[in-house]
Amino acid sequence: MENKIRPKTPSDSRVESRYIVMPDHTNHYGTAFGGVIMSWIDTIAAMAAQRHCETEAVTLSVDRLTFITPINIGDHVLLRASVNYAGNTSMEVGVQVTKENPYRRESTRATTAYLTFVALDKNKNPTRVPPLQPETEDEIRRFKNAELRQKSLKELKKLIQK
Ligand SMILES: CC(C)(COP(=O)(O)OP(=O)(O)OC[C@H]1O[C@@H](n2cnc3c(N)ncnc32)[C@H](O)[C@@H]1OP(=O)(O)O)[C@@H](O)C(=O)NCCC(=O)NCCS
Repeated sequence: MENKIRPKTPSDSRVESRYIVMPDHTNHYGTAFGGVIMSWIDTIAAMAAQRHCETEAVTLSVDRLTFITPINIGDHVLLRASVNYAGNTSMEVGVQVTKENPYRRESTRATTAYLTFVALDKNKNPTRVPPLQPETEDEIRRFKNAELRQKSLKELKKLIQK
């Protein structure tokens, strides 16, 4: 396993992207199709994970995804992602999705998601990721919450296997 020990901050991995909801992004209710939003989330989360580990990173799991409010056709969609927590070879990435009405200048949190990625070396084996060093109050809160989520997922896995 390669050893990349230089710690990184959440802002080292931070990525933002924007989309506009077009007709081919919608469901039969005329709002953004959840599968499309999930694809945008997975894409930006992968970019954040790659920026953290500077190697190939694959999605292990979507740990939580909440559609808080529907996103309408024509809305601008802003996605922000960064690494919340780093384990040995895995990373939790948090993604916030905000919808913006470009005419009314309204901005609303629409979706949140937490995904786990695993870093791979050139032989496609899990490889160590740099430790994460949260700096701001928000980053420290996200780090602690992510640590709790990761621990509880591992505990749940053990319980379910019994
Ligand atoms: C991701 C993958 C390489 C992990 O393989 P693996 O044999 O489970 O690897 P390991 O046992 O070494 O675990 C790697 C990390 O994932 C975590 N992990 C693995 N399975 C897990 C599970 N079911 N729940 C929670 N964490 C898990 C381990 O705890 C470890 O994290 P850590 O090193 O930070 O402690 C493998 O599952 C895989 O190839 N999955 C498919 C990925 C994919 O195709 N994604 C979609 C396209 S990007």
